[in-house]
Amino acid sequence: MADLSVELFGVKFETPVWTASGTFGFGIEYEKYTDLNQIGAVCVKGLSIKPKEGNPPPRIWETPCGMLNSIGLQNPGVHYFIEKILPELKKYKIKVIANIYGTNYEEYRAVAEATKGVEGIHAVEVNISCPNVKKGGLAFGTDPVEAAKITEIVKTATDKPVIVKLSPNVTDIVEIAKAVEKAGADAVSAINTLMGMAIDIKTKKPRLKNVIGGLSGPAIKPVALRMVYQIAKATSIPVIGIGGITTWEDAVEFIIAGASAVQVGTANFLSPDAAVQIARGIKKYLAENGYNNIEEIKGSILIP
Ligand code: SIN
Repeated sequence: MADLSVELFGVKFETPVWTASGTFGFGIEYEKYTDLNQIGAVCVKGLSIKPKEGNPPPRIWETPCGMLNSIGLQNPGVHYFIEKILPELKKYKIKVIANIYGTNYEEYRAVAEATKGVEGIHAVEVNISCPNVKKGGLAFGTDPVEAAKITEIVKTATDKPVIVKLSPNVTDIVEIAKAVEKAGADAVSAINTLMGMAIDIKTKKPRLKNVIGGLSGPAIKPVALRMVYQIAKATSIPVIGIGGITTWEDAVEFIIAGASAVQVGTANFLSPDAAVQIARGIKKYLAENGYNNIEEIKGSILIP
């Protein structure tokens, strides 16, 4: 039997298949629809220091092979999460990754500090890549100096391992990955959504109230795979692959490209059990091909 567990930055995950921030609530909403104990980790919806209402609707639009969103990081705030939601999640084996967000250095510091010493939060994922907010988010993720600065701030403020979630909306994602690695990131996750839009040709109005949103889903998988491959080659910290992963075959591609784990995002909207099914498929693939664990296939791409 192949062993699906992975150990990254000192944390043991039951499987390398996690759920991506913003696509699986806080995890607990799904306890009736899937087995949370069979999911490696939940990256919770982006948390800010104060509650946030997000952007006005419409803020979701389905596209061919994907989805546009401009949620605007709606969330109840980090303190509410820790006090009211985290105790429920702690009943399960699923590891909890607090995705955090700020509009300036001080907010990133404050929200990271709130996670310090909190039992049941296993890592922090820093969102420097949200395309849907006017302040913060992408502004920090498109500049290597700013990305490094935020990484340093969060590393100093929390005692949790720090994963930095990178934006694909840059010329050279490797440059940003290297900058956050140098600043002390324990891992990077790639990629967040690609900026996109859609227009109603009858009304000539944009489909999203915010006009521009983030594109996710199978449409972005080849772009994400390419970026994960490039980052994994150029850095020595774990790369968590995200972007249109819908089947176990997609996940295996990311691992062969160099990912140490993967996050399932838009696929959760089609099947809340997607992460469990994908993990099952990877396990079968490993066993059928004589591998003991995912380490044996990680980064094993053969370039002719
Ligand atoms: C959102 O809440 O707007 C999406 C989060 C993100 O893309 O980082």
